[in-house]
Amino acid sequence: MRLERPSIAWEKEHQMYVAEWGPSRMTPSSFNLNGFDNYEGFLKELAKRESGLGNWLPSTNYFLVNEADRVLGMVDIRHELNDFLYRIGGHIGYSVRPSERRKGYATLILAKALEECRELGMDKVLVTCDEDNIGSAKVILHNGGIEDVSERDTDGTRKRRFWITINN
Ligand SMILES: CC(C)(COP(=O)(O)OP(=O)(O)OC[C@H]1O[C@@H](n2cnc3c(N)ncnc32)[C@H](O)[C@@H]1OP(=O)(O)O)[C@@H](O)C(=O)NCCC(=O)NCCS
Repeated sequence: MRLERPSIAWEKEHQMYVAEWGPSRMTPSSFNLNGFDNYEGFLKELAKRESGLGNWLPSTNYFLVNEADRVLGMVDIRHELNDFLYRIGGHIGYSVRPSERRKGYATLILAKALEECRELGMDKVLVTCDEDNIGSAKVILHNGGIEDVSERDTDGTRKRRFWITINN
């Protein structure tokens, strides 16, 4: 199991993931393919976002890929927090392909993302989840999350907020 950066090699797998995901809002939103004429257009926009241009903060995105080169999950690591990320979004967003859930992959993807955070020199990482997202809360707790006060999003959703200390 490994992390892979989005590239043209993953176009088909990414599209299959999105097809399986269905019409609901993609998580992490950085992997949303809607509105792009082609995959190159998506990759170009992602590179722009990752470099921190415009309203974006620097970030790194990865697929979790298995030995058969199947994309099982996705993760977006935001290198810094703005006010919205501090209250609601956190440093790391992830998802697992619907057909691959409840197999420990989200717990693994967060562990691997934390290794990347360590490489980036981060020492404390904020990870959040919706109040009713029991699976995600467990994933965060399995990775050492310590709960902070929750915050309410503009749509009324309550976000649980957890800090994970990285031992450098
Ligand atoms: C939340 C999500 C990432 C969990 O992925 P996953 O690969 O199924 O998680 P894991 O297999 O690592 O499960 C971790 C724990 O949560 C539990 N769990 C997972 N999904 C659950 C659910 N829907 N309800 C209750 N428990 C759940 C697992 O049983 C496991 O429990 P255990 O440690 O006691 O055995 C996945 O459901 C998903 O992609 N959801 C949509 C996107 C999302 O919510 N992302 C998180 C944003 S904060």
